[in-house]
Amino acid sequence: MSPAGRTRVSGAGLGLRDEHLGELLKAPGTEVGWLEVVTENLFSAPPRFIDGLSELAERYPLVLHGVGLNLGSSDPLDLRYLDRAAAWAERLGAHWLSDHLCWSAVGGRHSHDLIPLPACREVIDHCIRRIEQVQKHWGRTLVIENVSAYLRPRGGDLPEWEFLSEIVEGSGCEILLDLNNLWVNAKNFGFDPLVYLEALPLDRVRQVHLAGHEVWDGIRVDTHSRPVCAEVWDLYRDFVALADPVPTSIEWDREIPALEVLLQEARAIDAILQGASDAVG
Ligand SMILES: [Fe+2]
Repeated sequence: MSPAGRTRVSGAGLGLRDEHLGELLKAPGTEVGWLEVVTENLFSAPPRFIDGLSELAERYPLVLHGVGLNLGSSDPLDLRYLDRAAAWAERLGAHWLSDHLCWSAVGGRHSHDLIPLPACREVIDHCIRRIEQVQKHWGRTLVIENVSAYLRPRGGDLPEWEFLSEIVEGSGCEILLDLNNLWVNAKNFGFDPLVYLEALPLDRVRQVHLAGHEVWDGIRVDTHSRPVCAEVWDLYRDFVALADPVPTSIEWDREIPALEVLLQEARAIDAILQGASDAVG
């Protein structure tokens, strides 16, 4: 089904987790505007999940969010992976597909982590070529997400925002701006998150992620196991003041709470977006 036949993706969305599938199916009237589905979950999902998701796809606009593209690796792009993701996007009428600006496998050996890339010219050029290849294969614009980091790989000393911006400008892709990841990195590496925000081509931000993190021995760790913290909400308000309204979704991946907890965060997103449009109006 073509995305053109579906409602626009706007306002607050939820990262769909199996724990909430049944409740969403029973409650057609939730305030959620749209859903984000993890691409790889579709490859091994039981028929029960696929049936439920197909029903939700009739009610909600969907986007796909991958973790397996392995964009920055020196391995060749996995064309079979690209084809499987594209087929699911087509089947569900997904409005866009996103993945991460990182690497996660080399020599065919896979890590479970999204590993940051050295922020240097050579890697910028490599990522631009890879994104162009993905976009040509799909006939769609790729949306790339900034990742959280706990170390800086050797060989790259460009600021993170410059690295991301140059790849976006050079490839024509769009940004999934994860403000929790941005905040985590700002605290772990000691930079001003507003400098990062103001340096980005904000008109290329297609989607925003909000999530919660934990502090382990003084290091901020992107666990997706907590509510969005007050500082990240403040950063979201800063972003909304700088950019046109961007669809924004909540991610929880551990210690997943009741759907109502996510809906409260979704309402907070809509209130912030609404406040911005009221201020403009
Ligand atoms: Fe994210």
